[in-house]
Amino acid sequence: MKELILIKHLCKEFGKVKALNDINLSIHQGEWLTIMGPSGSGKSTLVNILSLMDNPSSGEYILNGTNLEQLSEEAKRKIRREKIGLIFQQFHLIPYLNALENVMLSQYYHSSIDEEDARNVLEKVGLGHRLNHLPNELSGGEQQRVCIARALINNPELLLADEPTGNLDEANEQIVLEVLQKLKKEGRTIILITHNPKLAEFADRCVHLHYGVLR
Ligand SMILES: Nc1ncnc2c1ncn2[C@@H]1O[C@H](COP(=O)(O)OP(=O)(O)OP(=O)(O)O)[C@@H](O)[C@H]1O
Ligand SMILES: [Mg+2]
Repeated sequence: MKELILIKHLCKEFGKVKALNDINLSIHQGEWLTIMGPSGSGKSTLVNILSLMDNPSSGEYILNGTNLEQLSEEAKRKIRREKIGLIFQQFHLIPYLNALENVMLSQYYHSSIDEEDARNVLEKVGLGHRLNHLPNELSGGEQQRVCIARALINNPELLLADEPTGNLDEANEQIVLEVLQKLKKEGRTIILITHNPKLAEFADRCVHLHYGVLR
């Protein structure tokens, strides 16, 4: 299988805090990797670096054979726009825009507004019947599925989800997991962060972070 991500001796410091301490990790294309670990262990810091939202203090991040250290910020922005989809615990939906408009807003940032496409991704996450609902007219699980639809708008090969079910009950958690499974079947690479050991069962592989050290 092709290697999508290779991380070598990655460190991230915030002042005296070593949030990530010599991380080495390889992730294959199409793999579903779950990252677990207690609060403050560096999970979000790692996701922020993997999604090119933040830079490491030292070490290498090679994505699809490209060493990202050598790229300009503009080139990294381009990769982030084209290759990466992000899902968070907080939904970050605009309250006065309906589901369809929230997805179309993210299209705007990709300079590709297309209502048909936006409708298609919402149908894909099972929300074809909720297009005109405002966030406060949707259940938590439905809101998170709007967020997943939003993350899919650039057809990303890499999906990073930081505690995507942290605000959901078990039934909605299950629905979100089923959507992620469907995306994995399409060949996308998924990196899921969770506190919930039950969710680790869905992954191909599970790694544990402990105070910045990977086990
Ligand atoms: N921007 C920042 N500035 C300073 N310290 C930070 C910053 N971001 C994270 N940290 C510190 O780095 C460590 C790792 O934080 P991180 O958010 O990655 O943890 P986490 O595993 O995602 O925790 P949680 O499960 O609570 O979300 C913590 O000690 C945190 O206080
Ligand atoms: Mg976190």
